[in-house]
Amino acid sequence: MSNNISNNIWLKLAAKKSICLAIFGFISAVIIAGSWLLTLDKINYQKKIYQEKTLLEIIPKNLYDNSILDSSIKLPVSNLLGTRKQLEGYIAKSNQQPIAVIIPAIAPDGYNGKIELLIGIYANGELAAVRVTKHQETPGLGDKITTDISNWILAFTGMSLTNTTSNSWQVKKDGGVIDQFVGATITPRAVVTAVHKALQYFHEYNTQLLADNQVTENE
Ligand SMILES: Cc1cc2nc3c(=O)[nH]c(=O)nc-3n(C[C@H](O)[C@H](O)[C@H](O)COP(=O)(O)O)c2cc1C
Repeated sequence: MSNNISNNIWLKLAAKKSICLAIFGFISAVIIAGSWLLTLDKINYQKKIYQEKTLLEIIPKNLYDNSILDSSIKLPVSNLLGTRKQLEGYIAKSNQQPIAVIIPAIAPDGYNGKIELLIGIYANGELAAVRVTKHQETPGLGDKITTDISNWILAFTGMSLTNTTSNSWQVKKDGGVIDQFVGATITPRAVVTAVHKALQYFHEYNTQLLADNQVTENE
C-alpha cells in the first residue's frame, strides 16, 4: 500500500518535471527562433544598404539626374549574365535620356564559388565601373577584387568591346591586358570573363535596355 503511494508521488513528480522541461524547451526554442529572425532581418537590411551604396558608386553623380534606385528594369534572361534567373538592372538618366545601365552579373567560376558583380555600362558601350557585391575568395589572395582591398577593379573603367579586342579580355598570364594577382589567377580570370560577357550582353540587348518604356519608376 505505502509502496503504491510513494510510486504515485514519484510518478506525479516525474510528470511535473517533464512538463516543466517541455515548457522550458518550448520557450527556449521560441527565443532562439525569434533572435534568429531578428538577426536575419538585420543581415538582409545591411546587405540591402551595402548593395544600394555600391549601386550609387557606379556612375559619377554629376552625369545623371534621376533616382537610380527607383529606376529599375527587368533584364532579358541570358546565360551571358551567369544565371538563368530574371535579374533587375538600373537605368541612369540625364534630362530623361538614358545615359547608362547598371547590370548585375555572376562570375560562376571564382576560386571559392560565385562572385557577384554590378557592372555599369554607358549608352556608347563603355564601362562606367565594375564592383563586386558578394564573394568568398581567399583573404590575402583573391579578395583584391574589392575596392576596400585594392584598386584592381578600377582598371575596367573606359574599356569596351570596341577599344579592347576579344583576345585581350583575359588576364595577362593568358595573353590579355588585365593584371592577375600574385599567386591568384583564378579569381581575376573569373571576373574578367564575367565583365566581358556582360558587355556582350549589353551589345545584344542595348536597344531594349535603353528603351524608355522599360523603366519601372518605383514609388
Ligand atoms: C588555400 C588556398 C587558397 C587559394 N585562394 C585563391 C583565391 O581566392 N583566388 C585565386 O585566384 N587563387 C587562389 N589560390 C591559388 C590557386 O590555387 C592557383 O594556384 C592560382 O590561382 C594560380 O592559378 P593558375 O595556375 O591558373 O595561374 C589559393 C590556393 C590555396 C592553396
